[in-house]
Amino acid sequence: TQTAIRASFFDFSDIAHQPEAIMAQARYIEDGVLLLEAGRIVALHPWASLASPPAEVIDLRGRLIVPGFVDTHIHYPQTEMIGAYGEQLLQWLDQYTFPVESQYHCADHAAAMSAFFLQQLLANGTTSALVFGTVHPQSVEALFSAAEALEMRLIAGKVMMDRHAPDALLETPEQSYADTQALIERWHGRGRLSYALTPRFAPTSSPALLEKVQQLRQRYPDVWLHTHLSENPEEVAWVKALFPQHDGYLDVYHRHQLTGRRSLFAHCLHLEEKEWQCLHDTDSAIAFCPTSNLFLGSGLFNLKRSWQQGVRIGIGTDVGAGTTFNMLQTLGEAYKVGQLQQYRLSAAEAFYHATLGGAHALDLHHHIGNFAPGKEADFVVLDPAVSPLQRLRIDNSKDIWERLFVLMTLGDDRNIAQTWVNGRAVWQR
Ligand code: GUN
Ligand code: FE
Repeated sequence: TQTAIRASFFDFSDIAHQPEAIMAQARYIEDGVLLLEAGRIVALHPWASLASPPAEVIDLRGRLIVPGFVDTHIHYPQTEMIGAYGEQLLQWLDQYTFPVESQYHCADHAAAMSAFFLQQLLANGTTSALVFGTVHPQSVEALFSAAEALEMRLIAGKVMMDRHAPDALLETPEQSYADTQALIERWHGRGRLSYALTPRFAPTSSPALLEKVQQLRQRYPDVWLHTHLSENPEEVAWVKALFPQHDGYLDVYHRHQLTGRRSLFAHCLHLEEKEWQCLHDTDSAIAFCPTSNLFLGSGLFNLKRSWQQGVRIGIGTDVGAGTTFNMLQTLGEAYKVGQLQQYRLSAAEAFYHATLGGAHALDLHHHIGNFAPGKEADFVVLDPAVSPLQRLRIDNSKDIWERLFVLMTLGDDRNIAQTWVNGRAVWQR
C-alpha cells in the first residue's frame, strides 16, 4: 500500500561537478505529492498533474520537505562533551576527549548514549551519518544495534589506535585487527548498515597498526575508510616528525592504500598541492566541518579549491568538536567560512552538500540523497518559520532561494517538524 504526502518539495536531480551546475539540477515543487511504498520513493509529482488524487493523503501543505540530511563526519561518544572550553585540537583531545571516550568500555553506557545520539540526529533532520565510535568494540555494537532498530542508513566503525593516548584507550595492532574483523563480519551490509575502518588519525597509529588497517582493507575492499587529515598546524608538524620516511601527512595513509573512492578524510584544512592532487587522483572524499574548524580554531576549509580539484565533499558536524548536530546551523557557519575567503556559498550549493552531495561523498548516492524513484525514503519535513522573526523574514523573501538561505542563517532544530526514515515517520516535534 502506498503513502501519499502533499507539501512543498525541494531536491537535486543529479550529481554536480561544478558549483554552477547545481542550480540546473535543483527542483522545487511548490504544491507536490510524494508517493512512498515499502520504504522507497515511488514518485514525486506536482499535485496538479495527478489525473486522480490518491484516496488518502497526508496533508503537510505549508511545510517544505527535503531529502534527509547526511552528516559525513561525527563522533557519537563525544556527545556528552560538546562545547568544551579553551583548547585547540591536541590539548582538547588530551583534556576532554580521551577521558570521555574511556567510559565506553561499559556496554550499558554505550547503549544509553547510542540511543541519545540517534535521537539527536533525528531531531535535527539527519537521517544518515558516517560515525566514529571509540576503541571499544562494544561502543559500535551498541550504535549499530540502535540504528538497526530505527532502520537508519549508517556507516560506523570502532576507533583503531595504539599510541599517544591513555593506556585505557590503547590496543595492540593484533587486537585491533581481530576486533575490527569481527565487527565487519557481524555488521557490514546488514540491513542499511555499513562498516568504516576508523584509524583515529596518523599520530595515534603506529606503522604496525596502519599495516593492519591496510590488510583489512585488502580483505574487505568494499568497507569504508574514515579518519582525520590535516586539521591543525601542530598536528601536521607532529605527523611529519613521527613519519619522516613519508612525504607529508596524506602520504602516510596513501602508502598504506587507505585512499580511494570510499575513503573519507575529515577537515583537510592545511593540504599541500600534492595532497590535493592525491585526493583527486585516488577519488577520495573530504568532510568539511565548519563549526568544528571554527570552534577549535583549526582553520578555514577551501571549498573553491575542492571544486577546482574535482574532489567530492560532504558536510560534517564533527560533534563534539563541532558545536551543533543541526545541519541548518552548520550550513550557516559554512557560509561564513566562505565569506572569510571571498567564496559565496549559495543556498543551492549548501543544501546540495547537505543532501545529494554528501551522499555522493559517501558513495551512497545510489541509495539516498534525493526523491528519485527507487531511492530509500529518508526525508525531513521543515517548518519554514517557527518564530516571529523567522515569520517576518520568510514573508519578506522573494523566492525559494532566499527562503532556503534564511533557513541556513536563522534556522535550528525548531524548524525540524518531522523526520522520516525508510518510509516511516520516526521523529516528530
Ligand atoms: N583528530 C583526532 N581525533 C580527533 C577528534 O576526536 N576530533 C577532531 N576534531 N579531530 C581529531
Ligand atoms: Fe572528528
